[in-house]
Amino acid sequence: SVPLFVDVDTGIDDSLALLYLLASPEAEILTIASTGGNVPVAQVAANNLAWLDLCGRTDIEVTVGSPTPLRIPLRTTEDTHGPQGIGYAELPHSSRGPSDRSSARAWVEIARERPGSVTGLVTGPLTNLALALRLEPELPHLLKRLVVMGGVFNHPGNTTPTCEWNIFVDPEAAQEVFAAFSVVPADRRPLICPLDVTETIEMRPEHLRLLAQAAGSEPAELITEQDPPGTRSRTSNPIVRHLSDAVRFYLEFHRDHGQGFLAHMHDPFAAALALNPGLAVTRPATVDVELEGTLTRGTTVADWTGMWGRGPNADIAVGTDPAAFFDHLIERVGGFAAR
Ligand code: BDR
Ligand code: CA
Repeated sequence: SVPLFVDVDTGIDDSLALLYLLASPEAEILTIASTGGNVPVAQVAANNLAWLDLCGRTDIEVTVGSPTPLRIPLRTTEDTHGPQGIGYAELPHSSRGPSDRSSARAWVEIARERPGSVTGLVTGPLTNLALALRLEPELPHLLKRLVVMGGVFNHPGNTTPTCEWNIFVDPEAAQEVFAAFSVVPADRRPLICPLDVTETIEMRPEHLRLLAQAAGSEPAELITEQDPPGTRSRTSNPIVRHLSDAVRFYLEFHRDHGQGFLAHMHDPFAAALALNPGLAVTRPATVDVELEGTLTRGTTVADWTGMWGRGPNADIAVGTDPAAFFDHLIERVGGFAAR
């Protein structure tokens, strides 16, 4: 099994990443840490609790992280993910509250409990992990591996011309994390899953229909571009219904931004890499974050050829097979929703 520390800013694609992990028998989810990003941290925690309730996993802890990035005010993006971060989905509120310990404290305590065995997966800003590193500088040595959805290298950004959202929200945190993890041996280097690759993971209505079919949901989902914006799913399967309502918002967002009626599933792909790093082709590089530039603050820069003379501190995902990924995702999440 793969013991996982999951740190998210849920988020529509974070939601599907969670469903995928909950559907994966080898994933042992130790905790779900909430970080502010797509929506404020309290809403992220509420979303995490609600998805867990829906999936009958009230045994999994949810922690709350810092309400703000390390040095700057929090920016959120309800335009992208909906007023509550889950698109048009209206999940029943959980009666459960989050855990008493902070997300940063949870990172440290869980890593210390199982030294060398926990994979950390971050699909939001790196605020919690940066705070955890201040509490426990040995953290890079205590984790088995770190997988991060974030950054963009040879491709346009999605927040500024050169910035990816997760890094843009808390560039100081990202800079501290990448620097801190430069001490780990080559076989445990952080695996960075940048926009360059995650924008090839295009979810289309057809994928949702196949997922609904795999879940045995009746009627099978028929999300079409012609339906008026905000059209809700009619299926009785609650997981498929809420997922469709969330993803519809994301499809409309991408269409309204000239990208077609599709949605980039950044975080589910990073989640799959946390379970199976072999799903992506990777290249080692030295990664750093620009903190000064008036135009480029928050930009991730990769030195692929050793010009900085510092040695690689990351393996960057540079390619994958999106069709094979969707087959895998649909089989897992569809099968899980069928139960
Ligand atoms: C990242 O930004 C967020 O909006 C998504 O959830 C994803 O983690 C992509 O840039
Ligand atoms: Ca995210």
